Amino acid sequence: MIAVTGANGRLGQLVIDGLVDRMPANRIIAAVRSPEKASGFGPPGLQVREADYTRPKTLNTALDGVRRVLLISAADVGERFTKHKAVIDAAREAKVELFVYTSLLRANSSELFLAREHEQTEEYIRASGLSFVILRNGWYLENHTSALGNAVARGELTGSSGDGRFASASRADYAAAAAVVLTQPVSGSKTYELAGDKSFSMVELASEVSRQVGRDIPCRNLSGKDYAVILLGLGLPQTTVDVVIDADAMAIRGDLDSSSQDLSRLIRRPTATLSEAVKALCSRNKQEKDDETARLGDPCGCRCI
Ligand SMILES: NC(=O)c1ccc[n+]([C@@H]2O[C@H](COP(=O)([O-])OP(=O)(O)OC[C@H]3O[C@@H](n4cnc5c(N)ncnc54)[C@H](OP(=O)(O)O)[C@@H]3O)[C@@H](O)[C@H]2O)c1
Repeated sequence: MIAVTGANGRLGQLVIDGLVDRMPANRIIAAVRSPEKASGFGPPGLQVREADYTRPKTLNTALDGVRRVLLISAADVGERFTKHKAVIDAAREAKVELFVYTSLLRANSSELFLAREHEQTEEYIRASGLSFVILRNGWYLENHTSALGNAVARGELTGSSGDGRFASASRADYAAAAAVVLTQPVSGSKTYELAGDKSFSMVELASEVSRQVGRDIPCRNLSGKDYAVILLGLGLPQTTVDVVIDADAMAIRGDLDSSSQDLSRLIRRPTATLSEAVKALCSRNKQEKDDETARLGDPCGCRCI
C-alpha cells in the first residue's frame, strides 16, 4: 500500500493520478485532512483516509498497513516542522519501507527562509532510521503563470527578481517524479534536486508572454519593498508576500536556479517549458474569455491571457 498525504491538494491530486497509471487504485491511499472534500475524488477503489498533520492519532490510523508513504510538505510556514515530525513519527511506528518527502531545491544550502524548515525535516528523516527519498522540488512554473492574467491586464509584468533565474518546473512534472520513486524498487536512501531543464529570468518570461499575446508586455523590476506594496494592494496575505519577496531576492543569489537534470531523468522526458506553461494558460483563459465575450462583448481586446 502507498499513502500520499495532502492528497486533496493540487500536487497531491496529480501524484494520485500518476500512481493510478502505475498500479491498482485499491493499493493507493489518499491521506487527507478533510475526507469530506475527497468524496468522489479519484478512481473507484481508491482508499481515502483521514490524516491531519495536527492530529497524530489520525496519522497512525492512516498509515496502518502502509509500505510506502509520500509526505507532501505542509503549507503553514513556521508550523511545518512540527507537522512533518508527526508524520515521520507515525511512519516509523508503521515501519514503512520507504518514506518520501517533498523538500526544497538545495534545502541544505539555500538562503530562502522557507529552506530552514525543510532542512530541519530532512535532518529528522535522516535521523529516523527510515529508508527515504527526498525530492527537493524547485519553484513551481505555476507560481509564475498564476499572476500573468493581471500582468497582461496592467500592461506590464512586475517583480523584484532582477536578473535572477528560475529553473522552475510544473506541478505535473514534480508529481510524476514522486509517482516514479514511490513505485520503483527501493535501492537505498536518495536525495534528488528537482528543477526544470531550462531556467529563465523575469525578462525572458515577459518576452515569452509578449510573443504569445501579440503585444509588448514589458517587465519592470522593483525594489522588494515597492513590489511588496503592490502585492499587498492586490490583496495577497502578508505571509505570501513575504515568501514572494524573499524568493525574488534569493533568486538573484541563484538559489532558485539549477542545472540538475534529475527531474527529466526520473520522468524520462524533458520537463514542461516556460513556453508550454504560458500557452496552457493562454488556451485556458482564451476559452473563458470567449465564453465571456459571447455574453458581454470583448472586454479588453487582448488576444489571449
Ligand atoms: N515549490 C513551490 O513552488 C511551492 C509552491 C507552493 C507550495 N509548495 C509546497 O508544496 C506543497 C504542496 O503544494 P500544493 O500546490 O499541492 O498545495 P495546496 O494545493 O495548497 O495543497 C496543500 C494540501 O495540504 C493539506 N493540508 C493543509 N494542512 C494540513 C494538515 N494539517 N494536515 C493534513 N493536510 C493538510 C491541504 O488540505 P485541505 O485540502 O484540507 O486544505 C491541501 O490538500 C505545499 O503545501 C507547500 O509546502 C511549494
